[in-house]
Amino acid sequence: MNAARFNPQAFAAWREQQQQAVEQALSAWVSGDAPAGLGEAMRYAVLDGGKRLRPLLALATSEAVNGAATAAMRAACAAELIHAYSLVHDDMPCMDNDVLRRGKPTVHVRFGEAQALLAGDALQALAFEVLVPADGSVSPVLSARLCRLLALSAGAAGMAGGQAVDLASVGSALGLEALSSMHRMKTGALLQASVMMGAATGDVPDQALDQLARYGACVGLAFQVVDDVLDVTADSATLGKTAGKDAAAEKPTFVSLMGLAPAQAYADRVLDEAHDALLSSGLTRLDTLHALADWVGRRHS
Ligand code: IPE
Ligand code: IPE
Ligand code: MG
Ligand code: MG
Ligand code: MG
Repeated sequence: MNAARFNPQAFAAWREQQQQAVEQALSAWVSGDAPAGLGEAMRYAVLDGGKRLRPLLALATSEAVNGAATAAMRAACAAELIHAYSLVHDDMPCMDNDVLRRGKPTVHVRFGEAQALLAGDALQALAFEVLVPADGSVSPVLSARLCRLLALSAGAAGMAGGQAVDLASVGSALGLEALSSMHRMKTGALLQASVMMGAATGDVPDQALDQLARYGACVGLAFQVVDDVLDVTADSATLGKTAGKDAAAEKPTFVSLMGLAPAQAYADRVLDEAHDALLSSGLTRLDTLHALADWVGRRHS
């Protein structure tokens, strides 16, 4: 229904260009110089892989609000650094115990558990360092705003809190409300923060900001619902991570709660709300944000 709102070729070209720019910026900021192999583990965790959805959301939102490009790229990469750290820890034996990520052995398999723990720690710190450049290219007020948005989304009320609920829920059948809340925290919060950091790089009226927050929340929730679906429908080679892990680990997911087709239909409904939020924002340069919401719903990995 939303496919006509944007030109797919233009979106694919935009996406590839931004993914390359993000890769370059990350490669410059994630130095291999950290001692005792830590730098190598950090670069392994971040570079050459991943869809870069969080950076794309930050950059597209910044474009939609005519934001400052320098700050937007820093916000985009900071979100990806938090995401990469969360994946390294998520895969460790004490959490999901996964051996494959982004088509490669996981960081703890390749470098050992202690190094994986430290690589995650260092990537988290680096995310905030990137938001506070020493060259003054981001104003102190904007730096502080971006740090606050990112910290709230990564911490106890966001990703880390959601991951705690995820681990505590193994073997239990969560209801719709509890499951949505867990997904909004563990995954949705960082996606929403990526949108809000992009918005913070421009000057946005409160009404538009509220609708961008609604868009980000919907895309964030739908993204994790689709992740649950793909765990069942896709194969490991396509996903770049081991398929079928959720049922094996007795994780409550949207698929275990409602079944496959209803879970995908639920994600589609939530994404419809994301499109509605954009239409209610009063902003005009929204094609890419519409396209990203569609991409989240239709992705195969
Ligand atoms: C996977 O995220 C982990 C979740 C939060 C569901 P992505 O599907 O965005 O992983 P990459 O970055 O593309 O590897
Ligand atoms: C991970 O959720 C969410 C994170 C905060 C990393 P999952 O455990 O479902 O992610 P995958 O399926 O391993 O990528
Ligand atoms: Mg997990
Ligand atoms: Mg996992
Ligand atoms: Mg998953």
